[in-house]
Amino acid sequence: MWTTAARSFCSQFGVSLPIIQAPMAGGPTTPELVSAVSKAGGLGSIGAGYLSPESLQEAIRATRQHTDSPFSINLFAEPDGSGLAEPSAEVKEHLSEFAKKLGVTDLSFQPEVRSVLDEHVSVCCDERVPVVSVTFGLLSPDQCQRLKSAGAKLIATATTTGEACIVEQNGYDAVVLQGFEAGAHRGSFTPEAGQGVGLLPLMSQASRVLRIPFIASGGIMDGQAIAACLLMGASAVQMGTAFLTTDESGADLAWKDRIVSASDSDTVLTRAFSGKLARGLRNEFINTLEPIENGAARYPVQNQITNPIRAAAKKARNTEFMSLWCGQAARLSRRTSAADLLRQLADEVSAAITGFR
Ligand SMILES: Cc1cc2nc3c(=O)[nH]c(=O)nc-3n(C[C@H](O)[C@H](O)[C@H](O)COP(=O)(O)O)c2cc1C
Repeated sequence: MWTTAARSFCSQFGVSLPIIQAPMAGGPTTPELVSAVSKAGGLGSIGAGYLSPESLQEAIRATRQHTDSPFSINLFAEPDGSGLAEPSAEVKEHLSEFAKKLGVTDLSFQPEVRSVLDEHVSVCCDERVPVVSVTFGLLSPDQCQRLKSAGAKLIATATTTGEACIVEQNGYDAVVLQGFEAGAHRGSFTPEAGQGVGLLPLMSQASRVLRIPFIASGGIMDGQAIAACLLMGASAVQMGTAFLTTDESGADLAWKDRIVSASDSDTVLTRAFSGKLARGLRNEFINTLEPIENGAARYPVQNQITNPIRAAAKKARNTEFMSLWCGQAARLSRRTSAADLLRQLADEVSAAITGFR
């Protein structure tokens, strides 16, 4: 039932379904989730962005204990260099109030930030990871070369047609087109990207110029949406929020509850949590900082600063101070196992195609 482009993606990446479980750094993409997706024929992905090199190696080995099927590792490219080194006085004041409210004692406005990207690349080479994807920018030519020599296929994220062309010119095997609808951080890496482009106009325009396969991402929650993306020329889809609420996901239960009861106007793009634009459910943290969010420190400094506040909120199950990342179609999330979700999605694609004929 799959398109020629989807079949070709499946054979190139060693999967039987053109469905990628999005990498989701920060806890959701447990080895259990990634291996369950890969075992069921999709491409599971470990979000390595916030992992130490040692934890990444452990996660790869733990995933391999459950499956021999291919999976991918997602890395964060070098962070934004622009923006404030420290939050503005007004932002600091609010963050201090939040910290006090939640009993946080280790709030620091000058946290230590160090890139481990190169060490992550070394782990992926040593562990011979079959697919490596990157977001927030591109790998250096040397890093690409090392990974390719170790046998990895390379994927990068783009949020505009211009960025997708840069990905292609840099020799990547495929590009994720991340629409405006997408949950969590924008993968943009050029200033022109702004808040992003809706997935439909992004696919329509990028598909006319790209020669490498593109993967559609953003607000895709069911088989009908998958079929629509394949019809638009996508070789595969990458779904985050849909896998966030599965049994194997490491997302906090309070976060899962908020996602399944969200309406389509509940998400917002914010810089307040991390200094980088990201989509999540509105809450008190976002509402308070929204009018002054230009005073947030640059990514990843702001992310590190707000970490203890979010951790304390999670412990207290207080969703008003957690980052509730998800896409615009969150309410279509299902509470089931990853394998069952993939089975349902494949059935829905089949029904959608039959209906179209
Ligand atoms: C909780 C969460 C965390 C995410 N973390 C990452 C990440 O670490 N790396 C990445 O490339 N994309 C990440 N994304 C974005 C996804 O790759 C994808 O673009 C997005 O989930 C698509 O929108 P959807 O959530 O509506 O499916 C994340 C998405 C969510 C929801």
